[in-house]
Amino acid sequence: MIEEDKRKFRNALGHFATGVAVITACVPGNGPIGITVNSFSSVSLEPPLVLWSLDKKSDTLPVFSTVRHFTVNILRENHREVSNRLAKQGDHNLEGLATRVGSNGCPALEEALAHFECEVYARHEAGDHIIMLGRVTHFEYSEDGRPLLYHRGGYQGLATGNP
Ligand SMILES: Cc1cc2nc3c(=O)[nH]c(=O)nc-3n(C[C@H](O)[C@H](O)[C@H](O)COP(=O)(O)O)c2cc1C
Repeated sequence: MIEEDKRKFRNALGHFATGVAVITACVPGNGPIGITVNSFSSVSLEPPLVLWSLDKKSDTLPVFSTVRHFTVNILRENHREVSNRLAKQGDHNLEGLATRVGSNGCPALEEALAHFECEVYARHEAGDHIIMLGRVTHFEYSEDGRPLLYHRGGYQGLATGNP
């Protein structure tokens, strides 16, 4: 696709509003890392599967090509800074963020709206991305709180009340 068409394709995709998640993992010999994504999706109930996709150009590719576990952390509406910080190229450390180690060995962000602890179920090559499928081994969620949303290249919150 030529650059102009790529831009239009991205713009068109941006009309699909999503939540925002941080995928965390542990790097043997290094500290834990997190990367901001909005490609998270539910896949299957039996077995419980979720997916997200990773740009092959990401600095985190070597990590996610090899790890056996990851955790999906769903961000709250007040997490714009966390989202921006973990979307910076080459800077994915979790220093200063409250985390605890989950049963899959990956850090979970304490303040997330929900967590899905996963073991890698499959990796699929898909063009310039890799689809990461995770089998959920444990999950938690908070009954209250509102999600951070992403729409047409910007953050949004849930509208209050019905239209
Ligand atoms: C709201 C939002 C959603 C994003 N979703 C994805 C995604 O689904 N997959 C992906 O690979 N990158 C996604 N990114 C971009 C990565 O967070 C960012 O490109 C990456 O962290 C850049 O640094 P890296 O090259 O070190 O990975 C998203 C960024 C933002 C702000």
